[in-house]
Amino acid sequence: KTSLEDTLLAAIRTIPDYPKPGILFRDITTLLGNARAFRRAVDELVHPYAGTKIDKIAGIEARGFILGGAIAHQLSAGFIPIRKKGKLPHDTVRVAYSLEYGVDEMEMHKDAVKEGEKVILVDDLIATGGTAEGATRLLRQMGADIVAACFVIDLPDLGGRAKLEALGVEVRTLIA
Ligand code: PRP
Ligand code: HPA
Repeated sequence: KTSLEDTLLAAIRTIPDYPKPGILFRDITTLLGNARAFRRAVDELVHPYAGTKIDKIAGIEARGFILGGAIAHQLSAGFIPIRKKGKLPHDTVRVAYSLEYGVDEMEMHKDAVKEGEKVILVDDLIATGGTAEGATRLLRQMGADIVAACFVIDLPDLGGRAKLEALGVEVRTLIA
């Protein structure tokens, strides 16, 4: 019987020099296409919160939508999309952020979360933590209580986990 870690590691594909030279890109499309690996990843991420009241899952575009949607269903929680700028139709809050290979801006609908709601932030991977930090700021600006931030993959050399923990966010990852 293979361990969860082995199953997930084997299901992730690595692409050198994507999207820029020098980046080793961890591609989760192969994990998503593997029924067993996808299910195990989602089950493992939700496990600590079974029986806890979670109001909403906030998923970061684009890969955080896929995992976040599955996790929201499992926890009977609502879903909040955090999107690249210009994609959401109603009133938004916006934040600029930097990531491993660039800078961008992301938005969330102002009415997506109510003061005091318990929210779990979800994405596929944490690298520098710039993206998750931006999402944390948006959620907290609207009064969310961030219970945890969950990722399948941690790239520990890039310091993202430490950056989020310094903001007082509990971080959960499955593989490094
Ligand atoms: C990737 C990944 C995370 C972020 C992590 O998304 O899915 O959201 O980068 O990097 P960081 O920790 O250094 O901020 P990307 O920006 O490539 O967007 P995409 O999912 O829309 O392709
Ligand atoms: N894979 C996917 N997303 C990323 C990566 C990666 O290796 N690095 C930063 N964001």
